[in-house]
Amino acid sequence: MGGLFEDVEDEIYREKRVLKEEYQPDEILERDSEVEEYKHALTDALFGRSPDNIFLFGKAGVGKTAVTNFVLSELQREALRRDTADEIHVTKVNCNNQSVYSAVRHLVNSLRPEGTASFPKKGPSTADAFEELYTQMERLGGTHLFVLDEIDHLSDPDPLLYEFPRARANGHINEAKVGLIGISNNYTFRNTLSAKVKSTLMEHEISFSTYDAGELKTILTDRAQRAFVDGTCVDSAISACAAFAAKDDGSARQAIDLLREAADAAQKAGSTTVTAEHVERVRKQVNRGQLRDKIDDQTMHAQLVLEAVARQQLADDESVRTKRVQKRYEPVADAWGHDHLTSLKSIQNHLDDLHMLGFLIRTDENKGQTGGRSYRWEVDMNLKTVIEAREEIEHDAQPPE
Ligand SMILES: Nc1ncnc2c1ncn2[C@@H]1O[C@H](COP(=O)(O)OP(=O)(O)OP(=O)(O)O)[C@@H](O)[C@H]1O
Ligand SMILES: [Mg+2]
Repeated sequence: MGGLFEDVEDEIYREKRVLKEEYQPDEILERDSEVEEYKHALTDALFGRSPDNIFLFGKAGVGKTAVTNFVLSELQREALRRDTADEIHVTKVNCNNQSVYSAVRHLVNSLRPEGTASFPKKGPSTADAFEELYTQMERLGGTHLFVLDEIDHLSDPDPLLYEFPRARANGHINEAKVGLIGISNNYTFRNTLSAKVKSTLMEHEISFSTYDAGELKTILTDRAQRAFVDGTCVDSAISACAAFAAKDDGSARQAIDLLREAADAAQKAGSTTVTAEHVERVRKQVNRGQLRDKIDDQTMHAQLVLEAVARQQLADDESVRTKRVQKRYEPVADAWGHDHLTSLKSIQNHLDDLHMLGFLIRTDENKGQTGGRSYRWEVDMNLKTVIEAREEIEHDAQPPE
């Protein structure tokens, strides 16, 4: 008997890793002017002058990290080639969940020689950590570029963003030179910085706009050529991913993820080509996941009210009046073992909230002679998807047996 995996062959992927997050493209497409600006800002480093500080901003997935990695590795390569250039050390830290102390500690540990004990997590002061960082920078000499990703997550960043770049001017270092590269996808962060930090960090500000469908198509076409066996990914699949991602967030990450998931779906279905239908199918799954998360974010009673509207609307095949929502709400809450809200007013409040949040459509029902107003409610999403999402949420919430 053959083994379980005996018949498995990869007819779709040539090199799947190029569609993975950790893959670093050696070519950056559609970002010529940003790359050029970046290059200009770093030129001093090649001539032994202190480099300018740089601040990059732009939404998630628009190439800030990819462009940074590309530009810095090109710079390091060129510095090695030139006898006159200083050595260039690039050190990265993600500032998410970090204090200035822990971020500096991370930099210290990256610069310390291999085999050295790591800098203590607690005990020394922030000033001590900076002191050790200066020691390590001097030991290595050359030019140090520190990449601070998600810089907006740092609380109280002044010592790192204002004093540190002045280390040379203030006599903390003599041999080594320092340049900071701050990255953020938070546009308001810029305005929360003090004026002195702003002018220090933003000697060069490079902003990354979101990608349009044409740009995404260029990026995806290039990836697809590397990732897939020739002829397996049809052009319309790439266009579908590009169009969808452009309409949504303009993120290359989203476009690439979508293409990879579509290819996986094709492979699972035993197809030897990846088509626009596969893209459409996985896109729906992604949407479903997002819808579920959105519902899950609501309070339990709001979820129950939404579910009641969805179930009643499905049964009646028409929009639902407030009173009827209340009537349906009770068995729904019972079915999942939740206590009821008792007043009509509280149901109305939830309906109003759900309407404001875009879950429900509200229509005004004029009662004519008797005067008074009442509303009819309708779920502004696929009814079955809403009900299934609610069932999933309840089932996941059950404690394991
Ligand atoms: N211009 C481009 N050319 C080639 N690949 C790109 C380009 N822009 C982005 N990518 C790819 O898209 C994905 C997301 O890009 P990247 O990680 O650089 O985004 P980011 O702006 O750093 O996002 P975040 O703010 O979430 O960190 C990566 O796989 C990256 O390789
Ligand atoms: Mg990034």
